[in-house]
Amino acid sequence: MAGRDGTKRTRLMVGIALGMLAAAMILFAGCTKNDSAPAPADDTGPATMAEAGHETPPPPPEAEKPKPTPSDLPTADPNRIIPSGPGGMAGRPAAEVMKLVEEKVTTAEDLPKFFSSSVFDNPELERLPINENSVIADIGAGTGALEVYLLLHKMPFKKIYAVDTDEPSIELGKAILERYFPESAGKIEWVHSEYEDVKLPADSIDLGILINAHFFVPSLVKEPYKLNIARQCLTTVGRALKPDGEVYVYQNIYIAGKPAHTFREIDPPLLDEAVDEMGQQFKTAGFDIKSKDAMETCECAFFRLGKYGK
Ligand SMILES: C[S@@+](CC[C@H](N)C(=O)[O-])C[C@H]1O[C@@H](n2cnc3c(N)ncnc32)[C@H](O)[C@@H]1O
Repeated sequence: MAGRDGTKRTRLMVGIALGMLAAAMILFAGCTKNDSAPAPADDTGPATMAEAGHETPPPPPEAEKPKPTPSDLPTADPNRIIPSGPGGMAGRPAAEVMKLVEEKVTTAEDLPKFFSSSVFDNPELERLPINENSVIADIGAGTGALEVYLLLHKMPFKKIYAVDTDEPSIELGKAILERYFPESAGKIEWVHSEYEDVKLPADSIDLGILINAHFFVPSLVKEPYKLNIARQCLTTVGRALKPDGEVYVYQNIYIAGKPAHTFREIDPPLLDEAVDEMGQQFKTAGFDIKSKDAMETCECAFFRLGKYGK
């Protein structure tokens, strides 16, 4: 049993290492979809078994399994000038990125095609349980992709706390919203948080949303001390939740450069393991997992969380 677990873990580590190498190559090439911190591994395009030439894949022997290499991966789209987080800022000041945005983006409707964020490709977000009284916290808001999405889709909310640890991302997000959605002023409050504390008032939010906020994903964050910090952060999200509040998590999982649902076809136990590890993080931070799924529609793991004992 221990030997089998060891083998599984070794395969997971190898897969993740390949994914991270691929992501590093893409980041080097420029801004990409799902730019991330601290260690993005999800910057690859879709790849299906059919594309790979396998209609009905028999499980190949270990040695024959296709191993993606960086050259198999799509190159970054240079038009995606709005990074989703600090990984994509590549040291550029917010004002410099904003100048580029203003040159290229005439109307708010054009923004999605310039954002390097999977938010705009996620059909699940239409189903967010929000109304005109909802107070939302977008944790790991980056440069405000979710806020832009909700405003463009005219989805109702009372207030959004857009929370991030990265000041340049906040600065850029603020500038984008002020420029393209001046009417949202007063409904969106940017919060410069700390890694271990979202800095939100207790019992203040109906819905916490984490979209590709990789910092809590064990397979992406190697150092145990960082995972401890992430758990502290999640605990502060729990404290900010109202008694009936919920947290929705959408997390792209790429293993060995392949999106989660593709990997489910290739090696289901590895995907389950990655999703379980994430779930464990939430449980340790004091959340009750109401449901979880690895969704094909958004190529992400989805968790719906409530607070323990509520
Ligand atoms: C990949 S970006 C995602 C941005 C946005 N949610 C999206 O999907 O486009 C991840 C963001 O999480 C932020 N982040 C990392 N650790 C954090 C923490 N402990 N608390 C809050 N934000 C954090 C990063 O600064 C970054 O902006």
